[in-house]
Amino acid sequence: MTIEMQASESPGPSPVVGSVTRDEAPTKIVVRDLDVYYGSFRAVKGVSASIRARAVTAIIGPSGCGKSTFLRALNRMHELAPRARVEGSVLLDGADVYDPSVDPVRLRRCVGMVFQRPNPFPTMSIYDNVVAGIKLVGRASRSDLDGIVERSLTRAALWNEVKDKLKQSGTSLSGGQQQRLCIARAIAVDPDVLLMDEPASALDPVATVRIEELIAELRADYTIIIVTHNMQQAGRVSDDTAFFTMDEDRAGYLVEFGPTREIFTNPREQLTEDYVSGRFG
Ligand SMILES: Nc1ncnc2c1ncn2[C@@H]1O[C@H](COP(=O)(O)OP(=O)(O)OP(=O)(O)O)[C@@H](O)[C@H]1O
Ligand SMILES: [Mg+2]
Repeated sequence: MTIEMQASESPGPSPVVGSVTRDEAPTKIVVRDLDVYYGSFRAVKGVSASIRARAVTAIIGPSGCGKSTFLRALNRMHELAPRARVEGSVLLDGADVYDPSVDPVRLRRCVGMVFQRPNPFPTMSIYDNVVAGIKLVGRASRSDLDGIVERSLTRAALWNEVKDKLKQSGTSLSGGQQQRLCIARAIAVDPDVLLMDEPASALDPVATVRIEELIAELRADYTIIIVTHNMQQAGRVSDDTAFFTMDEDRAGYLVEFGPTREIFTNPREQLTEDYVSGRFG
């Protein structure tokens, strides 16, 4: 799916790529000179970055440095906050997501989001949770929906655990299952990009491993950007890492962005080194 643009520069659907090495992966999102504000407060400052398709990008940095704000700016969820605004640009497949012709609801189907706390719709069944985003659009038949539910839950590694109780409430599941349900809901609308804001931080170690395995699998089909406070997790799941800082007057700046291996073993900046080695949190 691509967002609909009136501008002629939209490049159309992204190419289908099988197993690509990092250096071959095309760019999915280009962020240029991005400032993100709450009123007059600038939470994210002058960020430029190229995020590769079908790769996992980790966002790390101390609490309050702007990780969630940056993530939400990518699919325009940020603008739902009071007095929120952005300057600079975010290009998805070359098309500016802040162009007036872009429908933010459609954009958010293309760039889905999974939050820290699993948030299934409390009054809905497992089945209805998965198809909630599709029903909003209101085009699919019952048998289409059945197929989408099975495929999305299978893709989210939850189908076998819930296939006999699809009518039960989504909130009757364990925390880890609820988070996989939320991933199934995000996948069901066929997005290109998945934004994940600390998706495993509320889960136990076993459920965390399952989410990490799932990310490794989904990486083949989606561009994934994950915020995490867990350095080991960033090292395990990501291809690239972006480090934001809270350091004095540099709060909200992207200090360093590059291949995860380099960020963790051979960072260019002292601030990055201090953070990844645990000397500063
Ligand atoms: N809705 C909001 N209104 C005003 N300021 C906000 C709002 N949300 C976040 N901020 C401020 O923006 C800055 C960045 O917050 P953000 O939530 O992006 O940080 P974070 O890096 O995700 O932190 P954490 O690791 O604790 O989740 C902080 O100073 C925060 O207080
Ligand atoms: Mg956050």
